[in-house]
Amino acid sequence: MQFLRFAFTAVLAAVAVEASSFTCKNKAVISSSFIGQNSDVQVDTVTCSNVVSKRDLEARQTNVCAATCTTNCFTPSGGGPNPNDCQVISDALLYDSQNIGALFNIASGTTIYMQYSTCQTFFVNQASYNETYCRTNWANVVEYVAFNCQSTQNAHGGNCVPPDQTWFVQVQTAP
Ligand SMILES: *[C@@H]1O[C@H](CO)[C@@H](O)[C@H](O)[C@H]1NC(C)=O
Repeated sequence: MQFLRFAFTAVLAAVAVEASSFTCKNKAVISSSFIGQNSDVQVDTVTCSNVVSKRDLEARQTNVCAATCTTNCFTPSGGGPNPNDCQVISDALLYDSQNIGALFNIASGTTIYMQYSTCQTFFVNQASYNETYCRTNWANVVEYVAFNCQSTQNAHGGNCVPPDQTWFVQVQTAP
């Protein structure tokens, strides 16, 4: 965990503040639920017409827990999520990791949204195959991006993208 935090920090410092934020088009909800100790974090599994699975990618590694992602903060400053609300999502993911399982499956081409108050995060699988990711890693990314892409960093949320770009996590203000 310490290593991951260090890796995220190092990468954040090295990356320019240029990044584009993803907006789901023609969102179609496949399933919805609430998670966390208080069942107050909304989870929606959806499809977006603008998520294009990268068909050319071979399924070399479907478990992507070990992948380190690069954090990009979205400019400009202002209007970002309250990081304390993002912390509630992060805690719900940690709670699920303890009580449901360390791993979750995400089908090819689908997106999982999580929302609590002002904070929204989503995981996009843009591989041509199902992927498995660790709930603790998503929790860490949500917390890291929320607290390090704030107005003081001239930002309003951000994303975290691994080198092979088969998936990414975004943290933003809930609509
Ligand atoms: C991919 O994930 C979906 C949804 O969880 C599941 O129905 C399907 O069986 C999975 N496919 C494979 C090849 O594991």
